[in-house]
Amino acid sequence: MAVIIDKLYTELNGLSLKNPIITASGTYGYCDEYNDFIDVSNIGAIVTKAISLNPRAGNKHLRIAETKAGMINSIGLENIGIEKFLETKVPLLNKKNINYIVNIAGSTLEEYVCLAKICNDNNIKAVEMNVSCPNVKSGCLEFGTDEDSLYNLVSEVRKEYKGYLIVKLTPNVTSIEQIGLAAEKAGADAVSAINTLKGLSIKINRVNGKYQKTIVQGGYSGAGIKPVALSNVNRLYKVLSIPIIGIGGIETLEDVLEFFAAGAQAVQIGTINFTHPDTAQKLIIELENYMDYNGFKNLDELKRELRA
Ligand SMILES: Cc1cc2nc3c(=O)[nH]c(=O)nc-3n(C[C@H](O)[C@H](O)[C@H](O)COP(=O)(O)O)c2cc1C
Repeated sequence: MAVIIDKLYTELNGLSLKNPIITASGTYGYCDEYNDFIDVSNIGAIVTKAISLNPRAGNKHLRIAETKAGMINSIGLENIGIEKFLETKVPLLNKKNINYIVNIAGSTLEEYVCLAKICNDNNIKAVEMNVSCPNVKSGCLEFGTDEDSLYNLVSEVRKEYKGYLIVKLTPNVTSIEQIGLAAEKAGADAVSAINTLKGLSIKINRVNGKYQKTIVQGGYSGAGIKPVALSNVNRLYKVLSIPIIGIGGIETLEDVLEFFAAGAQAVQIGTINFTHPDTAQKLIIELENYMDYNGFKNLDELKRELRA
């Protein structure tokens, strides 16, 4: 059953969404994993798992560790590559009428530009550039931590890609404001923030008088990063003119409202999908009920009051 709720209609500088709830890259696959038991077409948009030019096997095990308030992942951008993605996943997404944003990642400027051109030629309507993955050895994060490199990269991608361009920012920088401004100046339509924080999990066991350690170094995500994400979104909100999509530890309606208050125009739901894959759907309904109950006619009104 398709539920379309006009009250939640969200316009992001040219990108129209039926609601502001988006699922975050890497936490919702390519959506076919969920579509059997959730009507994914109700979700504002899904961001697909990062796609690179060629298939990637990702990092060796161990790739995941649970923490008290989230998880550490070191997947290393395992993916099927753009060619197979276009061949096998895009037709499915189109058939199911799912609004999707393609997350792209490269190791070099040329790779990003090539991906951008392929997305443009294949009529991909929205792209999120992952310049912020902390658990691959080269590329990606290096662009996202240096404003000049990022400006150059986004400018080159912008030349090839005419659709909607989101640049996904890392919190692992001194000034996210400068990085955000570089993305905006280079022609991004929006930024999303944040990607994972650098984290380390060490689980210690003492067996037969010897320590055994299980170590995962990678990106920290989930409930524990919410205050960091809110701070980054709010700092971006104070300097940028383009919309900010808030990400980081969002699990409840209260979290969504806090991100709106901080300046986010829409939000992405990440790690919680692994334990509660119906979260996005639940949040859409709860947000609509909340607006009805409190007499808000549209999201702009709600956001204005939250930010006053
Ligand atoms: C297992 C896993 C895989 C991820 N893969 C990607 C990815 O491929 N591309 C990307 O831009 N972000 C990726 N992320 C980052 C998330 O999209 C999101 O920015 C981050 O987890 C913070 O949100 P959360 O706390 O709600 O999970 C991944 C996160 C996790 C936990």
